Order: sequence, then structure tokens, then C-alpha cells
Amino acid sequence: MRKILFLLLVSIVAPAFSSAEVNIYTSRHYDSDEALYAEFTQETGVKVNIISGKGSALLERLKSEGKNSPADIFFTVDAGNLWKVQKDGLFQSISSEKVLDIVPDNLRGPKNEWTAIAKRARVVFYNPDNVGSDEIKNLTYEGLADEKWKNRVVIRSSSNMYNQSLVASLIANIGIENTENWARKFVGNFARKPQGNDRSQIIAVANGEADIAIANSYYIGIMLSGAAGKEQLQAAKKVKILFPNQKDRGTHINISGAGILKNAPNVKNANLFLEFLVSKRVQKYMVDKSFEYPISEDVLPSPEIVSLGLGFKEDSTSVKKFGELNPEAIRLMDRSGWK
Ligand SMILES: [Fe+2]
Repeated sequence: MRKILFLLLVSIVAPAFSSAEVNIYTSRHYDSDEALYAEFTQETGVKVNIISGKGSALLERLKSEGKNSPADIFFTVDAGNLWKVQKDGLFQSISSEKVLDIVPDNLRGPKNEWTAIAKRARVVFYNPDNVGSDEIKNLTYEGLADEKWKNRVVIRSSSNMYNQSLVASLIANIGIENTENWARKFVGNFARKPQGNDRSQIIAVANGEADIAIANSYYIGIMLSGAAGKEQLQAAKKVKILFPNQKDRGTHINISGAGILKNAPNVKNANLFLEFLVSKRVQKYMVDKSFEYPISEDVLPSPEIVSLGLGFKEDSTSVKKFGELNPEAIRLMDRSGWK
């Protein structure tokens, strides 16, 4: 009888202590995500609280909140950024078997501290008015050091994580010395001092200020969708995309991803939320909005991205390497004069 009374008491009191919620710190900013969160709540009864901001600002916030942080999930882009959070010891291992089953090992943290939610390729955009298809076919990242590209290439600065991860992937594949030799020649081919974001590089190529740009694949989807305005739509229509290194290791792949924080108050709900994000239906919904590539092969990217061509060879280098080799990559870019 006493036991029954106790259980009764616990079931009445418990909801007051364990509110069914999950707190997400995210640097993603899609209005459409609201609908996604509402659906998760409907499915599971778990309320989603979102704190959004720049990745670096959120990370600072996490650190200053320390053990008292309400954050359950940290959601950001680039394996290099996830690595930083992991290195600071802020993540715990993801325990969901579902998530670990769906996401391949090369797209997760060393001890599953974080997992990919979607993929992006760092590709070449070229202006077909100025670059012949014969000239560009079979292009590799390494080949961009060739003298024939002198004054023809644009890319953003070396302080950008996407570029640091690209260089880290080169170090992982061809070694430091070869990468440094490559970087010196590559920098020598720049059409201008690095400036602007990925989209600025694509626009520069569309305007004929340069012939080739390196930028992330999803930007072309955003631009082609028209959501970013007429100027970007026009620019996107003028350029073509090329997936480098198709005859060897494949095109450089990075991720957007998430991890569960070490002091997360709602670990179970956090695992549930990650399972929700990697489920086929939600993957489709997300990549249609973000123009990234889905984690599983049986989900199609958005129509805009499908129109650029499917089935390119992806570099399967573990994205763990990008964080591990990040300091080396930064030093190397510095030495090679990449501003
Ligand atoms: Fe981006």
C-alpha cells in the first residue's frame, strides 16, 4: 500500500520536475524550421525551445553558462566547428542506435560526440563564357595550382572555416608538404585578394571578374530558388558547377551537424530529436529548404540541386580529420600567403 501511495505521489509530482522539453542552441536560421519543431512536438509531446545565433556567440554563451546551461543540443555547420566544441569537452557521446545506424562513421565525431545532419560539397563554379568544358573537365583541387588558372580564381579568405577544412582534407590526402606547395601556387592564381562570402565569389564569376570560384554547393540552390533576390538568381543562371576529383578520391564533403551537451538536462529528448532529424521524412524536408545533401542515399536533394547532377563521387575522408588538422591547415595557409 505504501508503495502504491509512493508511486501515486511520484506520478503527480514528477511532471513538475521533468518538463518534456528539449533546448536547442542553433546557428541554423530557417523560418521553415518552426514547422519542423511543431511537428516534433506533436509527434513526441516534447516542446522545442530554440536559442539561435552565430555559432561563435552560442559557443561563448555555452561556456559562460557552464554546468548551469539549459542547452541540450548544439547545432552548427562545419565539422571543424563541431570539433572545437568537442575539444572543449562540452559534448557527451550520442547513444541513439538509430542515429548511429543511419549516419556513416566518417560523418561523426571520434566518440560519437557529434553527428552529421546534412552534407555539403565544396565545389567549383565556372563561367562557361570564359572556361571551355574541355579545359575544365577532370579538374581537381590540386589542378587549381596549374599556371593556366593564373589570375582566374576567386575564393574567400583563409579565416573561413570552410576553406580551413578544405585545406585540412588536402593535408589528410596528399600530406603537408604537397599541400603547402599546392597552396603557394594556388594563391598565386587568385584574381583578387580574398574578400566576401561564398556567394560573392559565385557572383564575381557570373560578372566575369574571375573565371572560377570555389564555394559550397547549397549556395547555388539558394540563389536559383529566387529567395535571395533577382540579382543572385541571374548570377546563378550564368555559372556552371563542377565536382572536382571525380577520377580519384572524390569531391570534398563537409557537414552541418549536432551534438548533445555534456550537461544536457534532457538527454533522452535530445536523442529523440536527433533521431527525428535523421529520419527520411525530415531529411527530405530539411534539404528541400537548405539545399544541402541528405545523409541517406535514398532521400533526394532538392529539385534545384538534383538539376545540377546526381551521383557524383564524394570524398569519404573522415570529417573528423578537419578538426584534428585545423591548426596545421591555418598555419599552412598563413605560410603560403593566403590572406
Ligand atoms: Fe554557409
